[in-house]
Amino acid sequence: LVLVLCLSVAEDFDWTKNDHDSFYYGTFPTGFSWGAGSSAYQTEGAWDKDGKGLSIWDVFCHKKGNVLFNNTGDSSCEGYYKVKDDISLIKELNLKHYLFSISWPRVIPTGIRYDYVNEKGLKYYDTLIDQLVENKITPIVSLYHWDLPQVLQEKYGGWQNISMVNYFNDFASLCFERFGNRVKYWITFNNPWSVAVQGYETGEHAPGLKLKGTGVYKAAHHIIKAHAKVWHTYDRQWRSKQNGLLGISLSGDWGEPVDITNPKDIEAAERYVHFYMGWFATPIFHGDYPQVMKDFIGRKSSQQGLGTSRLPTFSSQEKGYIKGTCDFLGVGHFTTRYITQKSFPSYHGSSYYTDRDLAELVDPRWPDPGSEWLYSVPWGFRRLLNFVKTQYGNPTIYITENGVSEKMMCTDLCDHWRIQYYRDYINEMLKGKDGVNVKGYTAWSLLDKFEWDEGYSERFGLYYVDFKNKNKTRYPKASVQYYKRIISSNGFPN
Ligand code: NOJ
Repeated sequence: LVLVLCLSVAEDFDWTKNDHDSFYYGTFPTGFSWGAGSSAYQTEGAWDKDGKGLSIWDVFCHKKGNVLFNNTGDSSCEGYYKVKDDISLIKELNLKHYLFSISWPRVIPTGIRYDYVNEKGLKYYDTLIDQLVENKITPIVSLYHWDLPQVLQEKYGGWQNISMVNYFNDFASLCFERFGNRVKYWITFNNPWSVAVQGYETGEHAPGLKLKGTGVYKAAHHIIKAHAKVWHTYDRQWRSKQNGLLGISLSGDWGEPVDITNPKDIEAAERYVHFYMGWFATPIFHGDYPQVMKDFIGRKSSQQGLGTSRLPTFSSQEKGYIKGTCDFLGVGHFTTRYITQKSFPSYHGSSYYTDRDLAELVDPRWPDPGSEWLYSVPWGFRRLLNFVKTQYGNPTIYITENGVSEKMMCTDLCDHWRIQYYRDYINEMLKGKDGVNVKGYTAWSLLDKFEWDEGYSERFGLYYVDFKNKNKTRYPKASVQYYKRIISSNGFPN
């Protein structure tokens, strides 16, 4: 009994205590991996070159009105043609890893592996991976950073359709087959929360659907199944030969109770986090959706006169199959919100947002460096990491995205707000007396790039990209030197 009590105490996240410790001098464990990231659609360009198929983002951007200033990723940073240049930037930073994604329609134009594969597309990733490995930079590869082949959307409804699970598994198998001798870190999905909510509910992202009701939950349900299937495929067929690890990258903004002495606010904040990262992490670590999602969506569904909950269910066999399908957890984190309880008895523009019964607030004193939504709240990062540790059994974590944007069209290379952001966020990650098991950190992003519905108006890069110039010339911002210093000293030595 004593043991059980100790375990359950160790499992609890303490919502009522938020220490804002001052700056902490110290270094990370030896071998800590420093990196930077990118994604295919955001940087590659070459949208219709060398046999690439259309993705849902090509189609979405080409339709007027979907993206700010009707920007597209058609050419973006021309990363497809600039492997050598970008490797030299990565080397300049002394990065230990580089995170990028593979464009599914570039290697399988129709999305269906047994239609045909595009050797030229495979060749591009071969070269990129070879060059990274030659330069002793570990590739971390995401299989899905949002650019679903358009054919799969058109024919089957994309992630609304369970058949995506097998198509995605076939695509993943092809990648393991071709690249797995050199790639040892695989990520199935990057930020599936965005895929489901912004792609299928609010329509801000491709495929731009505004499905009311079950659509958002169905998309997520199929993504979770696809993730699990790919993990089992890797585990069964490839792991013993290739010796790699496979995880998923989940985004999680932090939700802090407005008043940490008010149980209603604590419950609301907890709900915010469970509806965000927990939506995916809980099935993957514990086998099923968070209880609070089941309760709230179930209750709302019955109030709306539906026979069953809009949240799909996993069979007990599926629960067993999904649970534990994660060798490491990728965490993408950018910002924090204050959360308070707020009831939405009736429909409020979006099923997902109505279902949670909470309101999100910001503190007007929080610095707002670039994107409208991205306030710098470093302590939220530490809170999230501790939550992950306590809720999901202290998993191995790689930070797969963390960074900040600057104001529109800024040409100032002196990005002191980014330096401040990295300094403070990395320092929160270092406050390692918490015992969180973080093995690596990925600055988001290496380059300025196409920022989805915001087009090119938000720049996240360590390197500035001159998009007006045909060469898409890259220039180091001041944060390059700063990040380099953190890397070479492995933290903040006294
Ligand atoms: C998370 C997304 O995965 C990434 O593609 C995007 O650039 C960042 N958020 C910043 O918005």
